[in-house]
Amino acid sequence: MDAIELIKDRRSVRKYKNEKVDRETMKEIVELSKWAPSWANYQIARYTLVDDDAVIKRLADEGVYGFSYNIKTLHKAQGVAVLSFVKGKSGKLDTPKGSYEPSANNVWEIFDAGIACQTFCLAAHAKGVGTCIFGVIDDKKIGEIVNLPAEESVAALIVYGYEDGKHAQPTPRKEVDDILRFV
Ligand SMILES: Cc1cc2nc3c(=O)[nH]c(=O)nc-3n(C[C@H](O)[C@H](O)[C@H](O)COP(=O)(O)O)c2cc1C
Repeated sequence: MDAIELIKDRRSVRKYKNEKVDRETMKEIVELSKWAPSWANYQIARYTLVDDDAVIKRLADEGVYGFSYNIKTLHKAQGVAVLSFVKGKSGKLDTPKGSYEPSANNVWEIFDAGIACQTFCLAAHAKGVGTCIFGVIDDKKIGEIVNLPAEESVAALIVYGYEDGKHAQPTPRKEVDDILRFV
């Protein structure tokens, strides 16, 4: 699949076959995800892959504020990537000639995590694995459930598995003229 097809054919997948994705395949996906760009190449994104059904159930029961739509997806999930980032690094640049800190310095770590997230989803799609990003999540609770190191924060969950049934329909997109301006 070429890059254009990969970008356009990725979907949020919420129905999964009852079949685990083996850890070697998941490792290959993370191996690809590490090529995501990051602030000063600090590479702060971390991936905690949960494939134990009992832990996935805990994520459903305690990690999504009782949001039934996400609980339903988690009940079918074969795995969940807890995407986290090492706090307090991105957003500040120290060089021998000086220190640079943009005013929006606290957004760059989540920005890094976002790029890592989409890279993971595209890599997974290239390997035939469906994904769905979750933002409606209790990041603190999830951190406790997976025993996240204290220096990290949870950015998102990425639920994954082999897609069941027909490939999900594309969701509508705005026209390019509605989102693009040239100056
Ligand atoms: C930051 C972010 C948070 C999201 N949170 C959720 C979520 O909590 N539950 C869910 O089912 N989908 C969630 N999604 C998936 C979006 O609904 C989906 O990407 C969007 O509708 C476009 O559909 P597509 O991914 O199939 O192209 C999230 C996506 C992003 C990027």
